[in-house]
Amino acid sequence: MALFKDILAHNESLFQDTMALDLEYVPKIVPYRENQQKYVAECIKPLFNNRSGRNLFIYGSSGIGKTVAVKHVLNELNQETDDVFAIYINCWKKDTEFKILKDICDQLNYKFIANKSSDDLFEDVKKILNRKSVVICFDEIDKIESTEIIYSILEDILRKTIIFISNDKKWLLNLDTRIKSRLSLEILEFKSYNFEETKGIINQRVELAFMPNVFDKDSLSIIIEKTFKTNDIRNGIFLLKQSGDIAESKSSRKISHEHVEEAILKLSNFNFTRSTDFIDEEKEILDIIKDNSGKSITEIFDIYKSKEEISYRTFQRKVDKLKKSRIISTEEINEGIRGKSTKIYFSKKLTDF
Ligand SMILES: Nc1ncnc2c1ncn2[C@@H]1O[C@H](COP(=O)(O)OP(=O)(O)O)[C@@H](O)[C@H]1O
Ligand SMILES: [Mg+2]
Repeated sequence: MALFKDILAHNESLFQDTMALDLEYVPKIVPYRENQQKYVAECIKPLFNNRSGRNLFIYGSSGIGKTVAVKHVLNELNQETDDVFAIYINCWKKDTEFKILKDICDQLNYKFIANKSSDDLFEDVKKILNRKSVVICFDEIDKIESTEIIYSILEDILRKTIIFISNDKKWLLNLDTRIKSRLSLEILEFKSYNFEETKGIINQRVELAFMPNVFDKDSLSIIIEKTFKTNDIRNGIFLLKQSGDIAESKSSRKISHEHVEEAILKLSNFNFTRSTDFIDEEKEILDIIKDNSGKSITEIFDIYKSKEEISYRTFQRKVDKLKKSRIISTEEINEGIRGKSTKIYFSKKLTDF
């Protein structure tokens, strides 16, 4: 049938394993971060001897392997021993004490959480964790709403290593001194990848995710170049996936220069947020802001309220979260006798080339 003649047969996909292009995917080997992984492992080591571990603050710009390196260490830890719990929390997704405790319960496979308060949950979690040792990683720590939970863990969990990850070193400077002094944090900076490292990482992904030899050599070089320039491996993984999809949609057996160029256009139109990291309500608010950039917060609230039941306080919290992520910005405008109003703007692209 002519209509389908040129379409790639099912078994002729360009992809071998699209999972390897998922941003959360943790490869079996995380190259170029061996020293950092060793450092993290050293901080955890005392837990093997029933002593408390060292606490660590990791920082560095986004998309340079902080999360994947730590997750890799935690995976290895899980494979190595049953004597140490490994907990990973993304504070962007779980920003309140209650959400964090529920997430910990999930990870511990602890089900008796119905109708319990944060305090109840903490008591339960404490009992379980204190039977063994624990490594607890708070990723995107600057997005956490309150640091009370950290204090409670410091006080009541006996043998632990706490790892904080942030794109922003500032979080540490503003941290409550009462907590800071008790943590006695070690600090580990992740530096950007150089060109060779960027190339190695992208090539590794290509091998995992695609059938052999589907990229024209120059098309892959363009992706590597763009990734290096923007200093964020996420962009590279996005471009690999998009250019593969584009090539497939055109029934091409190779990923060529044009497919990559088209993917790059998509990337520059795409506010490279981690829109997957927002919960549905936040995405909906973001969509409204995108369409109404420059309007005041009350106007945006009215639009959202006409669709969803929400209090102004909750709405404002969600707006603050979007603001923290720099996907939107706000500006205070003095409107004379009418007082002040806050305008909200959808931010410019985060990935300008
Ligand atoms: N050294 C590496 N080896 C393999 N993949 C990497 C490496 N560094 C980063 N990545 C990948 O790049 C993306 C961004 O890395 P991530 O760890 O999420 O960055 P960060 O936490 O620093 O913002 C992830 O999909 C991750 O798997
Ligand atoms: Mg991260």
